[in-house]
Amino acid sequence: MSENPDKKIINFMNMEFLSVPENVALSRVVVASFAAQLDMTLNDMEELKVATSEAVSNCIIHGYNNQPIGKVWISVSLYSSRLEITIKDEGVGIEDIDKAMEPAFSTDPERMGLGFVFMKSFMDDVEVVSEVGKGTSVKLIKNLPPVKPQAGNR
Ligand SMILES: Nc1ncnc2c1ncn2[C@@H]1O[C@H](COP(=O)(O)OP(=O)(O)OP(=O)(O)O)[C@@H](O)[C@H]1O
Ligand SMILES: [Mg+2]
Repeated sequence: MSENPDKKIINFMNMEFLSVPENVALSRVVVASFAAQLDMTLNDMEELKVATSEAVSNCIIHGYNNQPIGKVWISVSLYSSRLEITIKDEGVGIEDIDKAMEPAFSTDPERMGLGFVFMKSFMDDVEVVSEVGKGTSVKLIKNLPPVKPQAGNR
């Protein structure tokens, strides 16, 4: 049986941190460092960082109401043709995911409601799973050009 090349994992990493705003910058740097092994343009890299920080900020601000009370998990998986970044919290959850993803929708009148707009425009796909009282998981997917075989890597 031939293996689906998309399911063949090339690399992965996981991190876990407390819901404090300082960790937004940390997550950007970690995801960008992981992505540095790819042939990404600076623009793609910048977009990846923005999408990641929007998702992480949402966990902290909305999921945990801006309090240092919970954990945020990031897992990054590299497959032959795509990069997947999953950002997860065990916070309050989202009542209506479709509504939450509408441009300019926010449950906080002080906010612009643009986080999901950035995530969707910078990534190829954004998948959200959420349950009220249980938490939220956002998967950011970036399609990649085929990986070139590297010298010495056989
Ligand atoms: N991790 C999460 N936990 C709970 N609610 C969330 C989470 N992520 C998003 N939401 C809900 O989805 C809404 C829309 O999120 P989005 O990031 O698009 O906008 P925002 O965070 O309100 O504003 P902005 O990102 O522009 O500061 C939020 O207002 C919030 O109600
Ligand atoms: Mg947001």
